[in-house]
Amino acid sequence: MNIAIGCDHAGYPLLQTLREQTLAEQKLLDMGTHDTKRTDYPRYALAVARAVASREATSGILVCGTGIGMALAASRVRGVRPAVCTNEYMARMARAHNNANVLCLGGRVVGSGVGQDIVRVFLETEFEGGRHADRLAIIDEQGN
Ligand code: RB5
Repeated sequence: MNIAIGCDHAGYPLLQTLREQTLAEQKLLDMGTHDTKRTDYPRYALAVARAVASREATSGILVCGTGIGMALAASRVRGVRPAVCTNEYMARMARAHNNANVLCLGGRVVGSGVGQDIVRVFLETEFEGGRHADRLAIIDEQGN
């Protein structure tokens, strides 16, 4: 499993913790940024989203200040289903019901402990399919 990761300056500290701990054993595709110098989140969101859409990566993890900007940008890439999650329940449902393939976290919203739990649950939860797949198909009919 390849996981594409990206962050902006506000997300860098949390992503750095994730990279060193929860993601230490994972094969990562690192799209940057690599420090806390101010930068523009859409660049990293689009790079991660494109890697997921092209199947270079199985899933993606994006971190900015709130996770919201990353999700807005990533959602513009067809086939990408970003989800902002602030707790484990949201992470579980984002996978089980929404088949989310890009997790968006707020580095200024969740602490490193909660952030690590969210990532762990997101990566270990399978999509349930069935009626949830039918609902996602309605979204896909709309195009991007
Ligand atoms: C950067 O200050 C902040 O706007 C960004 O990280 C993100 O939270 C946007 O959604």
